[in-house]
Amino acid sequence: MTKTQVAIVGAGPAGLTLAQLLHVAGIDSVVLENRSRDYVEARIRAGVLEHDVAELYEQAGVGGRMRREGLVHTGVELQSGTERHRIAFDELVGKTIVVYGQTEVVKDLIEARLESGRPLHFEVSDVSLHELESERPRVRYVHDGAEQELECQFVAGCDGFHGVSRPSIAADVLRTFGRDYPYGWLGIIAAVAPSHDELVYAHTERGFALLSMRSPELSRLYLQCAPDEDLDLWPDERIWDELQSRLGVDGWTLHEGPILEKGVTPMRSFVTEPMQWGRLYLAGDAAHIVPPTGAKGLNLAVRDVAALAEALVAWYRDGHVGLLDAYSETCLRRVWRAEHFSWWMTTMLHRAPNSDEFTLRLQQSQLRYLRTSPAAARSLAENYVGVEHA
Ligand code: APR
Ligand code: PHB
Repeated sequence: MTKTQVAIVGAGPAGLTLAQLLHVAGIDSVVLENRSRDYVEARIRAGVLEHDVAELYEQAGVGGRMRREGLVHTGVELQSGTERHRIAFDELVGKTIVVYGQTEVVKDLIEARLESGRPLHFEVSDVSLHELESERPRVRYVHDGAEQELECQFVAGCDGFHGVSRPSIAADVLRTFGRDYPYGWLGIIAAVAPSHDELVYAHTERGFALLSMRSPELSRLYLQCAPDEDLDLWPDERIWDELQSRLGVDGWTLHEGPILEKGVTPMRSFVTEPMQWGRLYLAGDAAHIVPPTGAKGLNLAVRDVAALAEALVAWYRDGHVGLLDAYSETCLRRVWRAEHFSWWMTTMLHRAPNSDEFTLRLQQSQLRYLRTSPAAARSLAENYVGVEHA
């Protein structure tokens, strides 16, 4: 039997960020991850950090490479048909975003963890949580073929949507809310300089498209597709043709290049209430999912663990239980705001398979409103960059 203060299940952005924040505060933890380090570091996900999230990484001592390689953006473009309109975050709400791949965030965090000398175990299996309602919860798992038991004071369930933490909450306490969307995103990474220096979110009659980037040499592009789209039907040429027709505007060229990665992501909204049960605290995708349109997934995960770390520090330093008790409520207020924003961006910009002309006109009207009303634009900007209103 080993002992630690906080057992962290999952080494995605939520678990790794929490591990780093606790390390900085001198709190001991063990991170348990069922995949390999290579797998976790190769997983391609979104890439937009809210200003405050980027700052949190700086303060936690893991912002070095992000500062050098991350791209600071002061706005995004919204495209309706062939018209583009810029939403200037800095002018509207005084904040910016940093475009830096989640994959890179994860690599930086793993490096920091290894440097700290504190435990991070990859390729563990059969993780199970026990005695969560006691003051000494236990986590059992198998590592290198041997059964292990970890005694701790708190368990952080950072094991994503398919993890074991959420199902460990008593069924009569757990409530879930959600929605599946009738579309997904076909995403590519292409070895070509981004054709625009900011993100472009495009609403067209053929469906949604997004131009994003990873670096001055790498473009990240997405196309609305079916949630179970067959990638075999999408040779590179067809992908570029479709991107050209959705993103194309007069006087602008979408540059094509070799496609390095292709994938399809289904879209869903999902919330768990409460996010805490006994000594188990859920964070990130284990507790909630947003469709990627608002770029909130990673940011929500980081803000959850920032709240959890603060609450744990208050408990360990001063014996204060107030922040821990308020954890679920504190997070859910922010989570539901992001859920609404992501759902709103998604439904405004996508065309559902059976969508009618009425819906199309509503979307076009909303996009026109965002172009013409600074108040409407400010509302989008506030939500996008993550300005909080308690
Ligand atoms: N035991 C141990 N680890 C597990 C288990 C388990 N039973 N189940 C899942 N995991 C691991 C996964 O392999 C993964 O590495 O937990 C980790 C969860 O990481 P993420 O899914 O990345 O979730 P999270 O850290 O909450 O980050 C949320 O990821 O999906 C994106 O858009 C989302 O950007 C957001 C971010
Ligand atoms: C990305 O770059 O992967 C990305 C950017 C913005 C989004 C979603 C994904 O809304």
